[in-house]
Amino acid sequence: MITVVGLGPGNPGYLTVKGYSLLESADIIIGSSRQLQEVPATTSAKQMVLPKKLDELEQFLRQHIMKDLVLLASGDPLLYGIGKWVLERFRPEEVTIISGISSIQYICAKAGISMNDLYISSSHGKVPDFDFLLAHSKVAMVTDKKIGPYEIAVEITKRNLRKRMIIGENVSYPNEKIYRLSPIEVEKNYNMNVVVIEDER
Ligand SMILES: C[S@@+](CC[C@H](N)C(=O)[O-])C[C@H]1O[C@@H](n2cnc3c(N)ncnc32)[C@H](O)[C@@H]1O
Repeated sequence: MITVVGLGPGNPGYLTVKGYSLLESADIIIGSSRQLQEVPATTSAKQMVLPKKLDELEQFLRQHIMKDLVLLASGDPLLYGIGKWVLERFRPEEVTIISGISSIQYICAKAGISMNDLYISSSHGKVPDFDFLLAHSKVAMVTDKKIGPYEIAVEITKRNLRKRMIIGENVSYPNEKIYRLSPIEVEKNYNMNVVVIEDER
């Protein structure tokens, strides 16, 4: 059985009680080195670092499917996370997804932004269609190193749009920073971040 547990944005205080108890009772927990550091020390589960290739992960999961396997996901597993990959490869009765607080939910709560009518997207490993994205009045994005706050700000400025950006850096961690900026104020380098783009009111 595979249980994909959403860890939330990173700080263990945001892991759900259900997620916590599943980590305690698992046979094997699989995640990145950073994610495995968040696993409670009280669990007796064997821990395994995610293999580099997803094919190897699939093979491992199939070989051990009779065990209680927990696969860790950052934030919410089904929001640009590993949950979709697992659902596409295993039968529904082999998989349980435990939702977590996504970095997008976290930044919205922290910055006081309603998620009603929020368009959610990602620049993680892809170039977004900015004409389409910026046509929305409220967008939230998970990003990566190639297309982050600065590149988004450039696209807004190019189109002369009146938007403001809320950037959440390292959210939930002790070094968390939340910036509210107009696109021309956005700098080049931010650590791991999530971005909300809103029409200026
Ligand atoms: C592969 S996506 C996973 C998103 C995740 N499933 C979620 O619900 O937040 C990874 C991206 O999520 C965002 N992210 C995840 N944790 C974050 C954090 N603690 N602070 C800021 N951004 C975070 C970053 O944009 C990062 O590049």
